[in-house]
Amino acid sequence: MRQTVVLPWPTTTNQLQGVQQKLLVAEGNHSTAPRFPCHSPTLTRALLEQPFPAVVLCAYLEIGGIDLRDRSVIELGAGTGLLGIVATLLGAHVTITDRAAALEFLESNVQANLPSELRPRAVVKELTWGKDLGNFPPGAFDFILGADIVYLEETFAELLQTLEHLCSEQTVILLSCRIRYERDHKFLKMLRGRFSVYEVHYDPSKDVHIYKAQRGSRKDDF
Ligand SMILES: C[S@@+](CC[C@H](N)C(=O)[O-])C[C@H]1O[C@@H](n2cnc3c(N)ncnc32)[C@H](O)[C@@H]1O
Repeated sequence: MRQTVVLPWPTTTNQLQGVQQKLLVAEGNHSTAPRFPCHSPTLTRALLEQPFPAVVLCAYLEIGGIDLRDRSVIELGAGTGLLGIVATLLGAHVTITDRAAALEFLESNVQANLPSELRPRAVVKELTWGKDLGNFPPGAFDFILGADIVYLEETFAELLQTLEHLCSEQTVILLSCRIRYERDHKFLKMLRGRFSVYEVHYDPSKDVHIYKAQRGSRKDDF
């Protein structure tokens, strides 16, 4: 029997607060980094107004009608883990990944921001794109999520290789991106060479695009 987890935004937002505070510390830029009101009912609004691609994808997942309950999800280049944490709060089983150097901080965020009953649903694991992909079963995930991971041209080939390894015919890839440089278009071109790619959302106020990619020519509506 499928377990139903009902997690409205206030619950999610309370968990996000800790992530955001740590995010500021992680960026090492305390004077200019955005600050969020603590213990404030306006936190949701304040958070949603931030221009981070991860926040845009979190909101899309929450209000976009995508049912993540009991789905198998992997997040690439998780950084703070915000997106993976939200996916877990929305009921998914999530493998939250990044490079080795990011894992200690990522693990502490995941521990601090998930209620104990949901922690077994989130696993933090090293995944450097293109490396040791055998540690991840091919095609095992329903969703592959990435926020702001298209920015280093030298990683494009490995990132694409990783997506191809992880993706089955049914897997849905969702990437939220701010297109900053011409080279970012290059990655999208590479992605289109291997997957069917559709822009499913654009937030003009934050200049963040969400792309959905799937193998073959599938085009599900969402
Ligand atoms: C701009 S940050 C985005 C972090 C997070 N997704 C977010 O939106 O806040 C890019 C992330 O990609 C990760 N990353 C960069 N190159 C990588 C690689 N070759 N393999 C795995 N992760 C990588 C970085 O460690 C970092 O966490």
